[in-house]
Amino acid sequence: MKKIVVLISGRGSNMTAIARTCAAEGWPASIVAVICNRPGAEGLAVAEALGLPVRVVDHRRHDGREAFEAALARAIDAEAPDLVVLAGFMRILTDGFVRRYAGRLLNIHPSLLPAFPGLDTHRRALAAGVRVHGATVHFVGTEVDAGPIVAQAALAVRDDDTEQTLAQRVLELEHRLYPMAVRWFVDDRLRIEGGRVVLLPANGGGPPEPRLIGEIG
Ligand code: GRF
Repeated sequence: MKKIVVLISGRGSNMTAIARTCAAEGWPASIVAVICNRPGAEGLAVAEALGLPVRVVDHRRHDGREAFEAALARAIDAEAPDLVVLAGFMRILTDGFVRRYAGRLLNIHPSLLPAFPGLDTHRRALAAGVRVHGATVHFVGTEVDAGPIVAQAALAVRDDDTEQTLAQRVLELEHRLYPMAVRWFVDDRLRIEGGRVVLLPANGGGPPEPRLIGEIG
C-alpha cells in the first residue's frame, strides 16, 4: 500500500480527481494527508468532505521560506509517504526541499512544458498565438516548473478561446492526466533515466499506454 501526501493551496480539483480515481479504481494506495498552506482554502473543505485527513501549514505563520519548509517537511515526514503530489501548491520550493523528496515529488503545470513555466500560462499561450496548449505532469526538479516529464495532455487552441475557456478545457484534461500519472507511480512503473522518464510495461502486459492524451494524441 503506497502512502500519498497531497499539497494544495486552493480549490483542490486535481486532488479531488486523484482521490476519486484512487477509490474508484481501487489503487493499492491511499491519500494519508492533504496539506494546505492557506487556512480557509476551498480544497480543505472538499478534502474533508471526501473523508481525507487534512493539515494546515500556514506559510504566513513562519518567518521566511526555510522555516515554513521545515514545518512543511515535518508535517509530510510524519506520514512517511511514498509519494508527495503537488496539486496547485502555490509556493516556490527551495533546492533543499526538492532534493529531500527527489524521485517522489510530482507536480502538474498548466502548459506544455518547457513552454510557459510560471504563472498566467493560458493568457500567455493566447498572447503567443500557439495553436497547441495543454498540461504537463513532471517530477519536480530544482528549476521552477521543470523536471523529467511523466505525461502531457494537449488540445488545439480555438480562434474564439478566451483565457477562461482555455483554462476550463485544460483543467478537464488535467483531471484525466494527473490520476493516470499518479497511478503509474503507485504501480512502480516510472523510472528516471538520463533525465527522462521511462514508463515500464504494466504487470501482466497489455498494450503500451500513450503518455500524451487529449485532442492531439
Ligand atoms: C491547476 O491548473 C494546476 O495545473 C496548477 O494549479 C491549478 C490547480 O487547480 N498547478 P486545483 O487546485 O487542482 O483545482
